[in-house]
Amino acid sequence: MNNFEFKNPTKIIFGKDTIEKLESEIPKEAKVLLLYGGGSIKKNGIYDQVKTALSNVDVVEFGGIPANPEYATLMDALQIIKEENITYLLAVGGGSVIDGTKFLSAAAVYTGDTPWDILTQNIRTEKGMPFGTVLTLPATGSEMNSGAVITRAETKEKLAMGGPGLFPQFSILDPQVITSIPRRQLANGLTDAFTHVLEQYMTYPIGASLQDHFAESILQTLIEVAPKVLKDPTDYQAASNFMWSCTMALNGLIQKGVPTDWAVHAIGHELTALFGIDHARTLAVIAPSHYKYNFEAKKDKLAQYAERVWNITEGSTDDKAYAAIERTVVFFHELGIDTKLSDYTEDYEGTAEKISKRFTDRGWLGLGEHQDLSPDKVEKIVKMAY
Ligand code: NZQ
Ligand code: ZN
Repeated sequence: MNNFEFKNPTKIIFGKDTIEKLESEIPKEAKVLLLYGGGSIKKNGIYDQVKTALSNVDVVEFGGIPANPEYATLMDALQIIKEENITYLLAVGGGSVIDGTKFLSAAAVYTGDTPWDILTQNIRTEKGMPFGTVLTLPATGSEMNSGAVITRAETKEKLAMGGPGLFPQFSILDPQVITSIPRRQLANGLTDAFTHVLEQYMTYPIGASLQDHFAESILQTLIEVAPKVLKDPTDYQAASNFMWSCTMALNGLIQKGVPTDWAVHAIGHELTALFGIDHARTLAVIAPSHYKYNFEAKKDKLAQYAERVWNITEGSTDDKAYAAIERTVVFFHELGIDTKLSDYTEDYEGTAEKISKRFTDRGWLGLGEHQDLSPDKVEKIVKMAY
């Protein structure tokens, strides 16, 4: 096991009817900017619950943060933060609203000229404006981590940012919120969380038994609850296991002391930036090709995953490893997620070269757990995913 340090300061408030607890989490004297997305919270009653809980607090609102939170929209919110002397941010939404709020938390205290530099120059935020979240969509884990991914339509870029100052102070996780989530987004959430675990697990054995078992148990739980959640989002038991699995998949715990990959996400973000494909779906497009292309380097963990998660016990290490990739593709299909780029766009020719060039230009010359996935290899993986 590798050496590690672990600190996660986010307070989780989990369970039925917990949104009312907002009242005791936000400082009374705060001037709050309530941030939300395209308006789903106004239809499903979450907005009303939040407003009731905040009835004694000074609140300004900013709605309209789109999926894949857009820089230009967030800059409008930043202006409000400055004009209104906001002191506390509250995200009510999925990964997009929470990530947008993290960007604002960083940008509000940033002293440079252009907040976009936070993303292009990898500026870590040590201390941002304080914020909390009410999670409405289990998927990204953003509610308990310190990372964010921001999109800029103007340049078709989608870049990550983060830092220890960007953990939410608290996150409220009421599994009942999933009852209004469309099937497509539920499938996205399951796929995103599943792939988060794979990114931190599908590398090479390092003797970290507990981390492996944690990872496998999250995968098993997601597999177990997926059909239940899709069939009946009002099934509270399934919803609560789904929600907690998504949070645990990316709150930092399972990646401690082990090698991590994250190449699937790096490549996937480009597909969202170029074609607007839902984040989770880009992962389902890239992961199978990535694992096939890097088969030799990953086959021991692939075979372990085959045995422990999918109960594939017949054959050699190679046989089991290959079968595990195929079984993963079937799982995505069972969720209703397509796994080829051509399923999403007819305009895919040239994509591999474009992504490879972008990585070269950014100096991303060696991704993956061995830092040896060079842009020419990325190009081959994307082509395999056409
Ligand atoms: O905008 P509204 O009206 O709220 O509707 C949203 C949106 O259309 C809707 N929705 C959310 N909760 C709902 C609901 N509809 C009905 N009922 C509810 N309770 O769902 C749609 C998608 O929401 P979004 O927030 O975009 O989805 P998700 O949570 O999957 O977030 C995706 C974003 O997170 C980033 C992705 O790149 C993408 O930009 N990620 C963030 C990560 C992180 N911070 O750690 C890691 C991830 O790998 C990922 O990259
Ligand atoms: Zn993801």
